[in-house]
Amino acid sequence: MAAAQDTHQASQETELFAPPADFAAAAHVPSFEAYQELHRRSLEDPEGFWREITDGFTWFKPWTQLQEGKPPFVKWFVDGETNISVNCLDRHVEAGRGDRVAYYWEGEPGDTRVVTYADLLTDVQRFANALKAQGLESGDRVVLYMPMVPELPVAMLACARLGVVHSVVFGGFSADAIRDRVNDAGARMIITADGGWRRGRVIPLKGNVDAALADDACPSVEGVIVLKRCENDIGWVDGRDVWWGDAIAGQSEVCPPAQLPAEHPLYILYTSGTTGKPKGVVHAQAGYMVYTALTSKLIFDLRDDDIYWCTADIGWVTGHSYIVYGILANGISGVMYEGAPNHPAEDRFWEIVEKYRVTVFYTAPTAIRTFVRWGDHHPQGRDLSSLRLLGTVGEPINPDAWLWYHRVIGGGRCPIVDTWWQTETGGVLITPLPGATTLKPGSATLPFPGVEPAVVGEDGEPVPDGHRGLLIIKRAWPSMLRGIYQEGWGQPGHPGEYGDSERLIETYWEKFPGRYLTGDGAVRDADGYYWVIGRVDDTLSVAGHRIGTAEVESALVSHPSVAESAVVGAPDPITGEFISAFVTLRAEVDGSDELQAELIAHVGQVLGRFACPKQLRFTDALPKTRSGKIMRRLLRDIAAGREVVGDTTTLEDLSVLAALRGDEE
Ligand code: PRX
Repeated sequence: MAAAQDTHQASQETELFAPPADFAAAAHVPSFEAYQELHRRSLEDPEGFWREITDGFTWFKPWTQLQEGKPPFVKWFVDGETNISVNCLDRHVEAGRGDRVAYYWEGEPGDTRVVTYADLLTDVQRFANALKAQGLESGDRVVLYMPMVPELPVAMLACARLGVVHSVVFGGFSADAIRDRVNDAGARMIITADGGWRRGRVIPLKGNVDAALADDACPSVEGVIVLKRCENDIGWVDGRDVWWGDAIAGQSEVCPPAQLPAEHPLYILYTSGTTGKPKGVVHAQAGYMVYTALTSKLIFDLRDDDIYWCTADIGWVTGHSYIVYGILANGISGVMYEGAPNHPAEDRFWEIVEKYRVTVFYTAPTAIRTFVRWGDHHPQGRDLSSLRLLGTVGEPINPDAWLWYHRVIGGGRCPIVDTWWQTETGGVLITPLPGATTLKPGSATLPFPGVEPAVVGEDGEPVPDGHRGLLIIKRAWPSMLRGIYQEGWGQPGHPGEYGDSERLIETYWEKFPGRYLTGDGAVRDADGYYWVIGRVDDTLSVAGHRIGTAEVESALVSHPSVAESAVVGAPDPITGEFISAFVTLRAEVDGSDELQAELIAHVGQVLGRFACPKQLRFTDALPKTRSGKIMRRLLRDIAAGREVVGDTTTLEDLSVLAALRGDEE
């Protein structure tokens, strides 16, 4: 086997890790040949392949037609009817597995709860009845802005049960960001909590919602349901706000599920793009359900006795697919943790692994690099012998961090699944299968069944193996985004019937018609392994969070002192990238340390603290080409401290530097 060339891995000999024989022997996909056969069949006989998979689910009406339409508008399991909440809950309870634990929940202050599948089904039905009593109907949108507590999956599944479309907004987002998302989705209700715990502090969730709704800024919102979590002081608007406890009081524990068409929208999740306005990615019930369930089962090789833990926040797609839907669809027991990895101590994660005897552990490379820095003694002080499989997601993992994860956390015995995917893809598209795939540290390896990727040049033709190109997907898969949300979604004849189709096509489908443009650069090596390098558009990956440079720029220029700004990413040993901002001030304003801090805080207020620049510099003018394009490459070099021609000590000279560089960008 060969190592990838032309990547940061190129310089080193890649060490190979074959699946351990005992792991492979018991795995769902037990050999490379079995994987190849599965993949071949999925592409050559998609009808037969997906029929076999979907037979295991509960359908009110089984599908007879696999697909309809051409990319980007492809429907799956077209005439089928189902409900994802039934497949995540009722199906297991009816099969006599109601006593099985769905979530071992661990709160940050150390409080705990154990929620069985039967408990979850009861809670979901009661809460669904509460939503109905509030007047919600199938097709309505609801925003969830909640901490990592069991009521979050309860609220998601209750929405799904009624055909109400949820849009979870990550708890780290600010009031402004909530307002934008609520208004874009036209949400009728917000479900939140008084607060959530983070490093011993209370995040004022309800306070942020109140700020978002102030001055009637979100006219579509009729009500706010508030869960009591931190017992902190909160504001209250009579007639609008309802306690969760009051909303469910007296509600029946039985709520028949809506019989939904396969393509009924399940949720909207906002993600960053290349413009300042986040995109509301829409996923559909059935395709998403089938694909997240199958990927969960085969990639994490799930077995009945597994204790699975994904450390993501449910506010991101990883949590939607691999804490809630895909995992519950398999009836597996999972751990859910509310807080930070270093509270109360830096071995918190390993304490949780030890306590619950976690078998499958899924986290982000940024977290792994942080653990490396904190020191081996933390994991080594805990019993991690229950672990049998590890996973990573969200950003490329450098081989050093991979090898540390393998050795120190996995004790050298656990395969690592490096899973590549996106909010838009709904589920993992490129990944090892742990009993089948020989691993190369730093490579997401090979396509999942049903997935046909390629690495192409600007002309759309495949580049030779070992060369860098654009990662594309050549055919639709079941959990592909159905569109970008726009008012009127799903209303026949309405201009918004398919969402913002113009933006959908322009972003993903225009460059190479019929093929999905991922926005990532990649190399395929001589063994067909994919090495994803990172975004090739103007989005950044900071600690695995996707942030649009344009979003940060528009946050900066919304400050009265700022005339213009340019935001770029620079390499960071822990978070992958950090945000670096270049700002020109209005004529009457002088730059100062105070203003610098104020502008950074302002971004935190507009977007959320996770999107704050780490570095912010004032400059008299932004360097531009003669045609007026900002010279981002030059700015990236400066931000990274790379050598640039000329003097960067005084950034007033940026225009001079730009002139020295010429019009090369
Ligand atoms: O650049 C890729 C990176 O994360 C982007 C998707 O971000 P988001 O929609 O927020 O979803 C993150 C969680 C699925 C991708 O375009 N990315 C994700 N996984 C990997 C990755 N880059 C390299 N290797 C991965 N395993």
